[in-house]
Amino acid sequence: YQGSITIPVIINILEDANHPVTQANIDSQIDILNDDYNDLNPATGAVPSEFNNAIANVDITFVLAGINRKVSTKTSWGTNDAMKLSSQGGIDATDPSFYLNFWICEIGGGILGYAQFPGGALATDGVVIGSDYFGRNTLGGQYGYGRTATHEVGHWLNLRHIWGDGNCRQDDFVTDTPGSDQANYGCPSYPTVNCRSNDMTMNYMDYVDDQCMYMFTNGQNDRIRAIFAAGGERESFVI
Ligand code: ARG
Ligand code: ZN
Ligand code: CA
Repeated sequence: YQGSITIPVIINILEDANHPVTQANIDSQIDILNDDYNDLNPATGAVPSEFNNAIANVDITFVLAGINRKVSTKTSWGTNDAMKLSSQGGIDATDPSFYLNFWICEIGGGILGYAQFPGGALATDGVVIGSDYFGRNTLGGQYGYGRTATHEVGHWLNLRHIWGDGNCRQDDFVTDTPGSDQANYGCPSYPTVNCRSNDMTMNYMDYVDDQCMYMFTNGQNDRIRAIFAAGGERESFVI
């Protein structure tokens, strides 16, 4: 699928008084997603020349389509999808074939967020983000700049971590991200060498600090576009 893609977004918030999610958090998150998926992140100017030709404009626009709030006293939701089901105290998804559902809650365990890959159960399809890491958020520290959502939406769009979650031979199925065998953290200096090549530490699908990730590649864009093509798992968003 080659055209521009528009994704309507529903924000489901399990409200915790100590970790408020404000309209400003929400609006800034939508803006950050639109920057990152349209090659408008100003930080992208710092991409090393060796990776310059790989920088992609993914051309996806995210539009806020609804906000659901539910007060909750639960402070550690975990990663078993309870936040996605009203029967378990959460909020049911809104029509996941046509909306990207976010759930914002206290996940616990130091987890910033998690996502469901394309092709899974509709009822749990979407992205979960810890309350302090949603949008521009002073509670989030080095993760308070909205890139957890950029990264998790990458998974929702079928992207793997750039090190392939394994050794040097484990692929992310993208040819223009150099092979690596580990996640990078903090704000790595260039070059960071693993598997005899320079890691693309500034890719949104690594684990670095929010302000140190600022590119997707053309190969990642191809992988994303494949799921919107005829017969692809997210074709329903473009027809
Ligand atoms: N650890 C999470 C994951 O694997 C998200 C990492 C996001 N990184 C960030 N700088 N916000 O899905
Ligand atoms: Zn990840
Ligand atoms: Ca690769």
